Amino acid sequence: MYTNNVKINDHMYYIGVNDRLTQLFENMWPLDHGIAYNAFLIKDEKTALLDTVKETGVETFLAGVRDTLDGRDLDYHVIHHMEPDHSGSIPALLAAYPNVQLVGNAKTKDMLMNFYEISDDNFLVVKEGDTLDLGTMSLTFYMTPMVHWPESMVSYDPHYKVLFSQDAFGGFGCLDGSIFDDEINWDFYESETIRYYVNIIGKFSTQVARAIQKLKALDIEMICPDHGPIWRNNVSKIVDLYDDLSSQKRREGVIIIYGSMYGSTEKMANFIGRALGQEGVKNVRIYDISRTHPSYLLAETWTYNGLILGSPTYNNDMFPLIKSFVSSLEGQKMKGVNMGVFGSYSWSGGGVKGLRAHAEDCKYNLIEPVIEFKSTPKADDYEAALELAKAMAKAIKQ
Ligand code: FEO
Repeated sequence: MYTNNVKINDHMYYIGVNDRLTQLFENMWPLDHGIAYNAFLIKDEKTALLDTVKETGVETFLAGVRDTLDGRDLDYHVIHHMEPDHSGSIPALLAAYPNVQLVGNAKTKDMLMNFYEISDDNFLVVKEGDTLDLGTMSLTFYMTPMVHWPESMVSYDPHYKVLFSQDAFGGFGCLDGSIFDDEINWDFYESETIRYYVNIIGKFSTQVARAIQKLKALDIEMICPDHGPIWRNNVSKIVDLYDDLSSQKRREGVIIIYGSMYGSTEKMANFIGRALGQEGVKNVRIYDISRTHPSYLLAETWTYNGLILGSPTYNNDMFPLIKSFVSSLEGQKMKGVNMGVFGSYSWSGGGVKGLRAHAEDCKYNLIEPVIEFKSTPKADDYEAALELAKAMAKAIKQ
């Protein structure tokens, strides 16, 4: 039978699947370019399957396992991470390979019972530093709690110097051609990798940074994540990107996000954007909150070191979509943000007051002047906007 399997080397095979049916990852995050669930099969003296795929891809996936095993039985299934995008096919796998020994840590075993009511006396519990010998290859396990869940762990094979990293070093986007970093155009994947990082594991950046430090001690020549391309040529590219993202090392630029019901706040957003351009800021992006999913906005605000939020007043408060976005920002615990705020009111204020309070609560570097105008911006307001742009340009270049 034809399958999408890819031979990686004499012992390793890629047997993941692309998912273009799921519209929202975790039923929240748009998958405009789909997503790949990567899984790997090792054929050595022993056979081992590393992770499975979301249940929706089980048929293709199991065909790939069967095809690659080519008549051999499956000895081990290593469960690096229990989120159902990787564990969803375990029940079907167990039905197809009843002799397989499951491998995970104590938390994995507990989750397996809670998610799938699978209680396995033969479950092999591993902990930090334990090794599973497969023949030429072997897997040493390292715990990476909260990257992405408490039970998350990675494994390393010293023979091929390969790291099986589950969610870490992954991204959104189907693998639309080759699976390897040296055979794809990374420009297509980078923004979706950043959006994946910020929205899915950005909150756990402290733990990500800790995991990266631990894994940097290994001699890694290949990274096999559970999403996104396989890194075999330029491993440092994805490690450096994750390093920058987890340490919130920001690029120079300003993101302007506004809400606008009848165009007044939008006018000011455009004016500030142009003023920033005149101040020499090359990365200026302006987003209408009513047209853009917050996952893209969160990714942009995580990437750049300047953020300007604009809101009209709505029921004595911020524009509801801006208010909701501000609430998401609070959960991100962002550091090193230079923030400007502007907005409008027509009879009683509230929009700008809410934005200022947000900037102060989150301890952002609030760039003055704060601009608040009545109904539409006037000459004085545009003068203030020029000042804001000048001060913001200076702040982000420091
Ligand atoms: Fe790709 Fe946390 O699952």
